[in-house]
Amino acid sequence: MAELNAAPVLKTQGFGITDRKDAWWWEQVFTIVVMGLFTIYATWAAAANAYFEVGPYFSPFYSPNLKAMFPEAFSWMSFSPAFLILWAPLGFRGTCYFYRRTYYRAIFNDPPACAVDKPKVGLLRWAADYTGETLFPFVLQNFHRYFMYAALVLVVFHWKHVWDSMFYKGQFGVGVGSLVILLDAVLLSLYVFSCHSLRHLLGGKLNNFMANIFSKFRFSLWEGQTVLNGQHWFYAWASLFTVGLCDLYIRLTAMGVIKDWNTWGIDWLTVLPATGH
Ligand code: FES
Repeated sequence: MAELNAAPVLKTQGFGITDRKDAWWWEQVFTIVVMGLFTIYATWAAAANAYFEVGPYFSPFYSPNLKAMFPEAFSWMSFSPAFLILWAPLGFRGTCYFYRRTYYRAIFNDPPACAVDKPKVGLLRWAADYTGETLFPFVLQNFHRYFMYAALVLVVFHWKHVWDSMFYKGQFGVGVGSLVILLDAVLLSLYVFSCHSLRHLLGGKLNNFMANIFSKFRFSLWEGQTVLNGQHWFYAWASLFTVGLCDLYIRLTAMGVIKDWNTWGIDWLTVLPATGH
């Protein structure tokens, strides 16, 4: 009887050994390529400390606009304000439950995919031996809920940039840049509001959803958020793409590489003094 219930055992074992016949490795390749490119681009863009603003457009990598909020402090500080900001979105994404699943598989190979064997040698072996999220450094993943509070604040600033992008010298208008900034704000909002920690905040630690009017209210919020939560993986990838796209669009526009089409009829390079340089 025990033999009948036993899980099938692979004839050979070792890194990447599996009975699967599908292309299980594509998600691993996709993750390494996309995360690698984004990390390189974001580090370079943050260090550049230039071309993050043009006309009414402002890059999300430099949001909130610390230079405008604390001009005196930045009159003597020479490093990029992005380095004072990026800990929040990077911490939020780095501790995100979806990204954890994704990079544990793609980078730590633990395991590389469902029903695919772990590595047996070297550094990969160390990663494969990790003890869940109970020991340092993985225990730090539990800070995710606090990064979520910071991300909720960032969402407000991203929507402020949407609003600002539609006014130039007090005159209402819309440009392609406004739409790119809007897309970034929408996807970031969907990503943050579909967060698993937010779901717990809304509906967690309740024994009875119908106990009183407050618990019923929380239940309705939890139900609505659960719909978003089902697509969290998509919002995670899409918002990563749109935040990079938004910075790239503003950067290329500020550098004069591309021209922004807008209802003001302005080529921002003709606007003096040039902003973001
Ligand atoms: S679980 Fe992904 S952002 Fe919270």
